[in-house]
Amino acid sequence: MKVLQIKGGKELSGEIVISGAKNSAVALIPAAILADEPIKILNVPQISDIDALSDSLKYLGASVTRTGETFIIDPKSLINKPIPENISNKLRASYYFMGALLGKYKEVDMFFPGGCAIGSRPINLHLKGFEALGAKIEEKGNRYHIYAKELKGTNIYLDFASVGATINIMLAATRAKGKTIIDNAAKEPEIVNIAIFLNNMGAKIKGAGTSTITIIGVDHLKGCFHEVIPDRIEAGTYVILGALVGNKLKISNLIPEHIEALLSKLKEAGVEMEIGDDHIIISKPNKYKSISIVTQIYPGFPTDLQQPITPLLTQCPSASITENIFENRFMHIKAFNKLGGKIKINGKKAIFKGPCQLKGTKIEATDLRAGAAMVLAGLIAKDITIITNIEHILRGYEGIVEKLINVGAKIEVREI
Ligand code: EPZ
Repeated sequence: MKVLQIKGGKELSGEIVISGAKNSAVALIPAAILADEPIKILNVPQISDIDALSDSLKYLGASVTRTGETFIIDPKSLINKPIPENISNKLRASYYFMGALLGKYKEVDMFFPGGCAIGSRPINLHLKGFEALGAKIEEKGNRYHIYAKELKGTNIYLDFASVGATINIMLAATRAKGKTIIDNAAKEPEIVNIAIFLNNMGAKIKGAGTSTITIIGVDHLKGCFHEVIPDRIEAGTYVILGALVGNKLKISNLIPEHIEALLSKLKEAGVEMEIGDDHIIISKPNKYKSISIVTQIYPGFPTDLQQPITPLLTQCPSASITENIFENRFMHIKAFNKLGGKIKINGKKAIFKGPCQLKGTKIEATDLRAGAAMVLAGLIAKDITIITNIEHILRGYEGIVEKLINVGAKIEVREI
């Protein structure tokens, strides 16, 4: 079995360059189906989630060529056929094939997507949007057959500002007849990145990044090229690393305003940073101040950084973090207490007593961001930390081992 072995306690210096955003790329790749001509996407991260989506496109007959971080997708030869479970359940973002195939072919037959165990993660809001556009939905077990004679623009109110539902409805609505308005839409930067991509293809989308998105349907979407925005969650993860063990650690190719909520919390904790247009230079402070954090939809503190900031909270005299977005996103706390953390969970809130000297031991990554949090913990813990189930980590952080070794971390992948 592959594990990560980490020897902690070392100060890290040098530069980490941020890759393209996983949560943008996983929507851009299925969205390419909507075009009638070849699409070129730059800055696509080289992670297994992307490989899975590329396999799905090839399964459907689209031609996909990849050179490094550049994808060329030609949907011309694509055949719309049922997507088998072993393909669609590799990752949650497979659900974007629903919006793209329904939008282009007015029919999609696929299974409910996989993903982390951080919550039930239903797709009722996605389906509500498709039905509002005129689609019929047949659920057989966890297989969905969604079809429509035609899709007609309409007004859709999202009960929760769901990222996935906002994007999926936007995908389907680009090829509907007439105007669709999505109210209470999610405002994450990835949604803006997708909307710009679709508009480059000839879609007519306004308001992405606000709570109200308007889409005027079009009959044809042309080829174009587009670039994935930097990954704000990867950036936030490495900025937290700098706050833990950095000595003028430089995190480059990021968009500071995309992680504003994190930066303000780190300042509150006593961390000083030099913030440039596209980079941050950060060092570990002598000590941390107590902070409390509440995860919110964008631009609030992102749920995806709730787990990665855990190691820093163990170094505060006291701290708390409230998880408002997912119902089961504290699975890493057990491992952190095993490392020497003093963390109690009270419903949606994790309460920390500290500062704690963490001591390395063997722990299991339960999901993507929990795994990243454990890597950061291993880098501050005394002695050796062994992390198992590391495929959870490698699917969402491009070159994480190489990037850490480059700044002096004692980390390696071992076979045990
Ligand atoms: C996206 O997931 C991200 N994943 C998640 O990142 C991120 O945590 C989440 O947005 C919130 O920012 C991708 O982009 C691939 P949601 P998504 O729909 O779209 C409930 C990571 O670590 N909900 O905004 O699934 C849902 O159960 C991953 O990179 C419904 O109830 O998130 C959750 O409690 C983890 N019905 C909340 O809304 C629905 O139809 C937020 O979900 C849809 C969602």
